[in-house]
Amino acid sequence: MKNNIVLALTKGRILRESLPLLADAGVEPAEPIDATRKLLLATNHEDIKLAILRGADVPTYVKYGAADLGIVGKDVLLEYGSEGLYEAADLGIACCRLMTAGIPNRVSNVGTLRVATKFVNITREYFGKKGKQIDIVKLYGALELAPLMDLADVIVDLVDTGDTLRANGLIPFEEILPISSRLIVNKASIRQKTPFLLPFIDSLAKLN
Ligand code: PRP
Repeated sequence: MKNNIVLALTKGRILRESLPLLADAGVEPAEPIDATRKLLLATNHEDIKLAILRGADVPTYVKYGAADLGIVGKDVLLEYGSEGLYEAADLGIACCRLMTAGIPNRVSNVGTLRVATKFVNITREYFGKKGKQIDIVKLYGALELAPLMDLADVIVDLVDTGDTLRANGLIPFEEILPISSRLIVNKASIRQKTPFLLPFIDSLAKLN
């Protein structure tokens, strides 16, 4: 009997770092991911397909069972919620930090801080706990530009090497959270496809 497992992957760095993990677990795309525009890919394993998605959409596909499994950043799970999902493992890939950052010596401690971010919920909670009054400017990317253009006093963004901050004259201020990629699973899939899914989850989770 075929199991028809769909694994939703987050395109970009998480996808690149997921492929070696999958290969070690015996799963490889049937065609090179870089050379195709296909969004649903067959693999060398007849039961497993890969869906290539934007990170923010991965939890939705898994929650509704369109995908059985997903690999997504902890930042996405915290920002958009992980209700209805089972977080099976920290895969220890795509590690980075969610940080506040800005122009050195430019930020005043008094008054309302204007914060540019795409992580609106995490940012509101973080500054709320500190008792700091903020206005949030919601952006969708290239956050480092916002302080340079006087759109914001600080940004809340993912920092990996710090190269993007440095290249734009910004410095990191405070770490909000360490981030890594998580393996998430649809709860009904675990019950219905246990004999196939559990060993596969174990093989992915054990490899880090
Ligand atoms: C992420 C993040 C930073 C950059 C950090 O952006 O938003 O801009 O990577 O990496 P670094 O510290 O190694 O320079 P990404 O390239 O994922 O694009 P995005 O702006 O769409 O988030």
